[in-house]
Amino acid sequence: MTGLRGRTALVTGAAGGLGAAVADGLAAAGTQVVIVDRDADGLAAKRAELSANGHGCESIVGDVTDPDTSRRAVGVAAGVFGGIDVLCNVAGISPPIAVPDTTPALFDEIMHTNCLAQLMAIQSVLPHMIKVGGGSIINVSSVGALVALPRLTAYCASKAAVLGLTRSIAYEYADANIRCNAICPGGIDTPMAAEVVGSFDSREDALARLTGRQLAKRFASPQEIASLVIYLASAESAFVNGAVISIDAGHTTW
Ligand SMILES: NC(=O)c1ccc[n+]([C@@H]2O[C@H](COP(=O)([O-])OP(=O)(O)OC[C@H]3O[C@@H](n4cnc5c(N)ncnc54)[C@H](O)[C@@H]3O)[C@@H](O)[C@H]2O)c1
Repeated sequence: MTGLRGRTALVTGAAGGLGAAVADGLAAAGTQVVIVDRDADGLAAKRAELSANGHGCESIVGDVTDPDTSRRAVGVAAGVFGGIDVLCNVAGISPPIAVPDTTPALFDEIMHTNCLAQLMAIQSVLPHMIKVGGGSIINVSSVGALVALPRLTAYCASKAAVLGLTRSIAYEYADANIRCNAICPGGIDTPMAAEVVGSFDSREDALARLTGRQLAKRFASPQEIASLVIYLASAESAFVNGAVISIDAGHTTW
């Protein structure tokens, strides 16, 4: 992939799971990364690993629902690396909740973390991307934006909202040469998926309902999904804008 060496990316949710794989992939491509997560220990470990391997890395411990977190991260990106070129909105939550138990407070928390926090991070990076003449924003949505997932009603609603957010940002900032795309992964082998699987009575039932429609009949590795994020950050994807890209081993095809 080209156009990544010497650039700077902000990656949220990078202490583990998909976000950590995205940070790894970007760093391997020569991009400096500012990694953000509320998991201080996990984030410190990821930063230490990236730095030990000679990659430019800064970390910000914070909650993405707090607008100050992305402001701080962008401040560090600008101060240490001179700007910001790529934003990967990866942090998210998917607590399994039955419909009757989905209180307004829980719904708000899920919408805030999965959608509003993406908007707030975008608001923080936009002035810097405009200043350098462009950028790429990748919002992680989910197959749950496109089809129903069991016990994840609020999650599915929040991930569907991410698609509207993505298209609107692409439309509003195309003239500034800023692209914004969303990816809709199927099940990924991360702690999040383990939590959802664990909420079912049996693992077999969980796998049948969560990955049964994925033609590969397995979870993706975080690296398989991260490779699409890295493509969307790169120059090779210059003509891809406002897109919603499924990466789900066929979950949504039948
Ligand atoms: N795992 C899957 O099967 C799957 C499928 C489709 C989409 N996704 C999406 O991929 C993204 C990454 O998920 P994952 O599977 O790596 O999950 P994960 O739980 O393994 O990792 C998520 C990371 O985000 C961080 N995080 C969560 N809420 C935060 C907050 N408020 N502030 C700061 N950090 C926060 C967590 O600490 C964690 O490090 C999410 O947006 C998720 O919805 C996951």
